[in-house]
Amino acid sequence: MFTTDQISAFKNIKTPFYFYDTELLRQTVKKVSEAAAPYNFHVHYALKANAERDILQIIQKQGFGADCVSGNEVKRALETGFPPVKILFAGVGKSDEEILLGLDAGIGAFNVESIPEMQVINALAQSRNTIARIAVRLNPNIDAKTHHYITTGLEENKFGINMSDLEKLPELLKSLKNLQLIGLHLHIGSQITDLDVFKSLCIRVNKIQDWFISNRILLKTINVGGGLGVDYKNPDNTDFPYFKAYFKLFHQFLDLRAGQSLHFELGRAIVAQCGSLITKVLYIKHGQTTNFAVVDAGMTDLIRPALYQAYHKIENISSSGETEFYDVVVPICESSDVFGKTVSLPPTQRGDLLAIRTAVAYGQVMASQFNLRNLVSAIYSEDLSKS
Ligand code: LLP
Repeated sequence: MFTTDQISAFKNIKTPFYFYDTELLRQTVKKVSEAAAPYNFHVHYALKANAERDILQIIQKQGFGADCVSGNEVKRALETGFPPVKILFAGVGKSDEEILLGLDAGIGAFNVESIPEMQVINALAQSRNTIARIAVRLNPNIDAKTHHYITTGLEENKFGINMSDLEKLPELLKSLKNLQLIGLHLHIGSQITDLDVFKSLCIRVNKIQDWFISNRILLKTINVGGGLGVDYKNPDNTDFPYFKAYFKLFHQFLDLRAGQSLHFELGRAIVAQCGSLITKVLYIKHGQTTNFAVVDAGMTDLIRPALYQAYHKIENISSSGETEFYDVVVPICESSDVFGKTVSLPPTQRGDLLAIRTAVAYGQVMASQFNLRNLVSAIYSEDLSKS
């Protein structure tokens, strides 16, 4: 939802741009932290969803940790004030340089995804005369019931160590003297709206824990990853995601053992609803059967519709009245690059502004310069109220 002041300010800003509602973000992070607090759960924000400095600063101030998947994300988290011990570094292909960066910064843990990676981290830690804290990422083989491109916990995925390799762990750890195994890490996928999926994850974690205990391996942390979904159809539904129900479910179904802490790596659910991509209608084309609204943003600014056929609600914030149908299309020469088909909009004309909602997660951060287009810019609600 936008205020009339915001909409009139948008008219003087060069489109396309991301509009970030920082007040809504503050409210959301507060909600997340209040929902996790009764159980002492630890939330690490997944920078991959959005790594804008202003966004990170707001999240960091709430006391969250950071979940990073590249050396540059680790650097960004450090620069924006996340304490090193609260930084986790995941990813299937960490380079030596990135591992050294994490070691030198003293990050909380590396989430390791393969046995060869453990061997490399061990050697690099030895070269620095230090001990690397690691959490092993296991593939729990649970179907996240989400888009297959963003399902990660199935055995056939490239992520994590397979359950069958687990047997090798006790012997291996004895020989890797510069590693300290502190925890277990799992992540089953993204945009999960069926909370039962997380219940299955809890039950699986309990079983995996039994295995560790029977092998006398003490785990200090259990990290269940992220994946909580948002309501793309109703962006103004402030009840959703159900953070309280989500954390309560883990409290009820996941058996933490003495001294263990539970960690989460939420990205999308924290930021997604806190902003929109604002784009201008360049042309209205009347086809034989379809009206096309050609807008000035494209997959270079928001790739989700083209890449995953993802739905984003589109609103005309310049016009009102009886709605008609439009295909909202973009200037880039890729047929899959359509923001929405048969979108219901009020009568729309050249110059109107459209808001593509729920765009903060995996939006600006996935922008590119394909077709030599300019990189999309960002505007913050606070900046508007100052001007
Ligand atoms: N932890 C790990 C290990 C992950 O791989 C991810 C996301 C997260 C945490 C955060 O998940 P979230 O809470 O945001 O669902 N570009 C796709 C999403 C890719 C998600 C990748 N991993 C999209 O636009 O839908």
